[in-house]
Amino acid sequence: MIVELTVNGEPRVATVPGSVSLLTVLRDELALPGSKNACEQGECGSCSVLFDGELVCACLVMAADCDGSDVVTVEGIGTDEHLHPVQQAMLDAGAVQCGFCTPGFVVAAARLIETNPTPDAGDIREALAGNVCRCTGYGAILRALESLAKGAS
Ligand code: FES
Ligand code: FES
Repeated sequence: MIVELTVNGEPRVATVPGSVSLLTVLRDELALPGSKNACEQGECGSCSVLFDGELVCACLVMAADCDGSDVVTVEGIGTDEHLHPVQQAMLDAGAVQCGFCTPGFVVAAARLIETNPTPDAGDIREALAGNVCRCTGYGAILRALESLAKGAS
């Protein structure tokens, strides 16, 4: 099937079996490898993207449901020259180790900050509950977002 969608503000077209996931469309067809493929079961959050404004696991969205949708991936959040505040906060806090989970955390945290610029610790934990990190123990990630929220309040 042909899927026409908007990704990071640009119209894109992919020709794929309807049974593959949005994650496969992004990584294998549209050359956007930022969303990571780990569990493919909606358990780890490494493939987090915004789908029509909602935070979703791209591995759980079927390509057949993507036609006409608006998708934002980590590649659409910040640039090399101008990091998103979430990216800068995570960098400053040393919240990145192997980095595999980082794109998913960035997308989820950017969505949180967009909807709630001054989240408290509970809001942050709840917003990131679907994201798994095997390296950091979460402390630095949570501190990064707490410092970002304090700076905004
Ligand atoms: S790869 Fe999608 S949630 Fe783990
Ligand atoms: S930094 Fe390695 S999994 Fe999170």
